[in-house]
Amino acid sequence: MSNCSSFQQAGGIRPIRYSNNVLSLLDQRKLPTEVLWLDYTDYREVAEAIRSMVVRGAPAIGITAAYGALFGARDIKADDYAGFVSAFDEVCAVLAATRPTAVNLCWALERMKSLIRANPEQSVNNLKIGLEYEAMAIAEDDVRINMNMGRHGAALLPEQVRILTHCNAGALATGGYGTALGVIRAAVAAGKQVVVYADETRPFLQGARLTAWELQQDNIPTILICDNMAGYLMAKGEIDAVIVGADRIAANGDVANKIGTYTVAILAREHNIPFYVAAPISTIDLSLADGSLIPIEERDASEVTHVGSQRLAPEGVAVRNPAFDVTPARLISAIITEHGVAQGDYLTTLAGFVRRGGR
Ligand code: MRU
Repeated sequence: MSNCSSFQQAGGIRPIRYSNNVLSLLDQRKLPTEVLWLDYTDYREVAEAIRSMVVRGAPAIGITAAYGALFGARDIKADDYAGFVSAFDEVCAVLAATRPTAVNLCWALERMKSLIRANPEQSVNNLKIGLEYEAMAIAEDDVRINMNMGRHGAALLPEQVRILTHCNAGALATGGYGTALGVIRAAVAAGKQVVVYADETRPFLQGARLTAWELQQDNIPTILICDNMAGYLMAKGEIDAVIVGADRIAANGDVANKIGTYTVAILAREHNIPFYVAAPISTIDLSLADGSLIPIEERDASEVTHVGSQRLAPEGVAVRNPAFDVTPARLISAIITEHGVAQGDYLTTLAGFVRRGGR
């Protein structure tokens, strides 16, 4: 593990690095007060990094899991195809069990597994080499996908726009550039005048800690607000659009995203403000008919009772801590993907986008 004191990459934050067989993750639990990089070569430690939120955000979790699977594969002793496949499935099961809501995790592991399925004639050694290329491709594809998504999304925005976002769907949540924040970056690059309102996003404070920090790196004007201020600002006419990311999108367009997203969507509808979701097609889960079927992660009570190590609530109080909620498709003005923008008939359009992406 290594600590890196200087960190400066405007617009180019890459929270996941891989070189010389080592995965380095920017520890997102420490931002913005400390910039710490942690190094990994063991798949069990990678699984723990995902579980404990060293890395978070649906696409970033998927990329990290792919590298974890690679490390697990390298440790497999079996040199026959069947033995390798069965051991690799076990590695993937450990990684898949880390966080249940973001479908990109299983999507990335499935992509790694299909490489093996497609090449039964290859030696185990060659399969391991192929897995390394596949993990790197997943990481690189993600940045390109986000830039395409940004282009499609920016076209929806007026020349001057005040955008509310919830959680962090930025470079830190992806391989780079971001989904919701990628749309914002693309709008800024196109010369639009953008001001971002960042919800602090209790309880993990991804908005206050991560979105505010990463937008500052790019000098994008940002105003941090507490989650309960959005309605007031909408009623005052200070918000023109909402853009959020997604952890899983059901076939009908229902969207699971960070807890509190649903509340923002209802507020946006009440105030006639467009509510946009930006997500790659790897976030679309056509196997689920609607959002009620999306598994919602419940996290530790201490995230609610404490801020950092500081206890806020009395000992012994009962707590609920669902990490995500589901926004029904009817509240969503458009879903922005790398293949274009879905509006209205999500069932047909999303399935078409997924087919186009070869899934
Ligand atoms: O619990 P987190 O921080 O992993 O949740 C992240 C979100 O909810 C993001 O909005 C979502 O993953 C989209 S990231 C491009």
